[in-house]
Amino acid sequence: MYNDLSWVDSAWSDIVNKVKVTSDELEVNFPSMTTDGQYCDTHAPWAWVVGFWPGLLWLLYEKEHYEPFKTIAINREELMDQPLEEYVNIHHDVGFMWQLTSIKQYELFGNEKSRTRALTAASHLASRFNIGGNFLTAWNKNDVSSADPRGLSIIDSMMNLPILYWAAEQLNSPRFALVAKAHADTVLKEFIRPDGSVRHMVEFNYLEGGVKAYHGGQGYSEDSAWSRGASWAIHGFALSYKYTKERKYLDAAMKTADFFLSCLPNDHVPHWDFRVPKDDTTPRDTSAAACAASGMLLIADLVDDKKAADKYLQAANNILHSLHQKYTTFNQPSEQGILTGGAFNVPKGLGVNCSLIYGDYYYVEAISKLVDKVTLADKNQVLKTECCE
Ligand code: GLY
Repeated sequence: MYNDLSWVDSAWSDIVNKVKVTSDELEVNFPSMTTDGQYCDTHAPWAWVVGFWPGLLWLLYEKEHYEPFKTIAINREELMDQPLEEYVNIHHDVGFMWQLTSIKQYELFGNEKSRTRALTAASHLASRFNIGGNFLTAWNKNDVSSADPRGLSIIDSMMNLPILYWAAEQLNSPRFALVAKAHADTVLKEFIRPDGSVRHMVEFNYLEGGVKAYHGGQGYSEDSAWSRGASWAIHGFALSYKYTKERKYLDAAMKTADFFLSCLPNDHVPHWDFRVPKDDTTPRDTSAAACAASGMLLIADLVDDKKAADKYLQAANNILHSLHQKYTTFNQPSEQGILTGGAFNVPKGLGVNCSLIYGDYYYVEAISKLVDKVTLADKNQVLKTECCE
């Protein structure tokens, strides 16, 4: 199935039809994960996941111009003003929250209020930088009992850095990008192991810097390799390369991607942790698969070397095609999500074998990228035919 994208257009139509139904029947503002096929609300407008549903609707709106998607996306962005103004519950995941919503609306329609929201969020993120240890502090409090939140940073942060690069461009002030790069360099040094596997949580000495402890977080153990954490690293480093053009970030994206690919089972969909003892019942995590695949498509677009580009395109295609065949819900009207087989927090027994809104988001993002590739290939074919006629 080498780079055969013939399945992509029908996958896109299936997604659009599914989301038309889900968006019509969904009774919650901020879907997070499903129980018995129904999306539950986060009930916390400051939760890290709130941007994914409006973000997913924007991805579809961009190609389909279906007005109800736009209406819902704008409404959810407005509901997110409450946590932004309250400030106290704000954490490092403001990138996930306002990048996919406010920056998107600003890019599409030039809405100044959206631009201000995203700049405010970027400013809050920059203020979380700990100059003693050169890292972005994840949370104000945390649920890792032995960790001091003042020194805690997590790999997910790599996905939040683009809002800082964007703010630097918008304000023509490198200070935001300098914070992002300083943090990315710390992650490169302290989170990425020599074999390309990735730590979830590192606790730093919060005054003088330096590693104090490692924590397993949502992974199996502090020495293990949580697959969604790996996907945050792959995709996050690729994004840092996109904005900075610093080669070390692309190398880190490829190194973590190579580790990820070397651990995949035959069907290309990762288990929730690459180092957990496995049997036939070990949960997969389709959200890790989707986020990593979308990140690999970005690597394929950014890397100069054609052989490497083909390798990551093929790997992403394998993952996404397998998700499409085995984990999509298009023939299951009782399921509101798009992808089954997500794993939120296996150590705590939360959200296992369900749909996760970020799994759905990155799946749609990745398929949208493949649709663009198919469209481009079709256009080139037409041009080639016209030239030869
Ligand atoms: N950012 C939390 C998670 O990936 O579940």
